[in-house]
Amino acid sequence: MTTSFDVQNAGTIEIAGKTLSRMGFGTMRLTGPEIMGEPADRDECLRVVRAAYDAGVRIFDTAWYYGPDTSSRIVHEALAPYADDVLFVSKLGGSRTEDGGWVPATTLDELREGAERECALLGIDRLPVAHLRWMEIPGGLTFEAMLESFQTLQGEGLIERIGLSTITIDHVETARDAGVEVATVSNPFGPGMRDDDALVDRCAELGIPFLPYFSLQTSQGSAALQQVADEIGCTSSQVAIAWQLQRSPVIVPIPGTSKTAHLAENLAATNIALSEAQVATIEGPLV
Ligand SMILES: NC(=O)c1ccc[n+]([C@@H]2O[C@H](COP(=O)([O-])OP(=O)(O)OC[C@H]3O[C@@H](n4cnc5c(N)ncnc54)[C@H](OP(=O)(O)O)[C@@H]3O)[C@@H](O)[C@H]2O)c1
Repeated sequence: MTTSFDVQNAGTIEIAGKTLSRMGFGTMRLTGPEIMGEPADRDECLRVVRAAYDAGVRIFDTAWYYGPDTSSRIVHEALAPYADDVLFVSKLGGSRTEDGGWVPATTLDELREGAERECALLGIDRLPVAHLRWMEIPGGLTFEAMLESFQTLQGEGLIERIGLSTITIDHVETARDAGVEVATVSNPFGPGMRDDDALVDRCAELGIPFLPYFSLQTSQGSAALQQVADEIGCTSSQVAIAWQLQRSPVIVPIPGTSKTAHLAENLAATNIALSEAQVATIEGPLV
């Protein structure tokens, strides 16, 4: 039986050598405001992560710099010892300033330090998938140089697979030309932010799982989503998630939340089938 708190209708996807439910969870919201410090209700965040796991979610998008350290610590506390099929998709290439700023951390030493820190927080020996979090910085390291560092860390056994985040189709091709088997791609994407439609399609051609971020917040306030939600009798966040699942078989939604009520709503969206007319409404001009 399919209950609302069960993600089996999302189907499965091959990712990093595992066959997993095609509904993930983003851990960035398990922190205080501005993604800094402890969340307002830590116990509720622990319940959120455990409830996601209990519903069948196995793909957890993480980063040591959420908090920093806070999200990954909560995930560890909620889920360890881990079942074999839990998959952490993490990211390296950024850091935080004391006052909450987001800054690049792209040298080999910084990437290694980040990978070791994330492993320690999660209680694992190596990162199963590490996204190269690309940030174009004038005078900064090139994408190719960063890619080489990731390959070095892969050679050292600190990361198993390389993913790419906040990138273009050209970056995917550059990585493939450099001999990287791209495990995953993660960019901002959702019904309200479709600049990367072509990238999603290229990932589908190549069979690369695509983890959209900011998929809910970039859809907020959309009259088209609300219209479809009213028709179905659900929320616009649920429509945004159902749309992602229908948009491409390589999409793995990773909505983030710190609340069990929102989690239940988000996971229940896997039971919503949008009609062609509803998809056309959603994909029309957003008002
Ligand atoms: N690769 C990258 O560089 C990168 C960058 C950013 C994020 N990410 C990943 O992507 C994940 C998703 O992105 P995100 O968390 O920033 O944005 P999101 O999923 O678009 O939206 C999350 C926001 O929506 C709220 N929310 C969640 N479910 C809701 C619902 N059913 N109804 C109303 N509000 C709801 C959450 O607040 P509540 O806590 O109140 O529910 C939170 O403020 C992150 O958690 C992170 O793991 C990756």
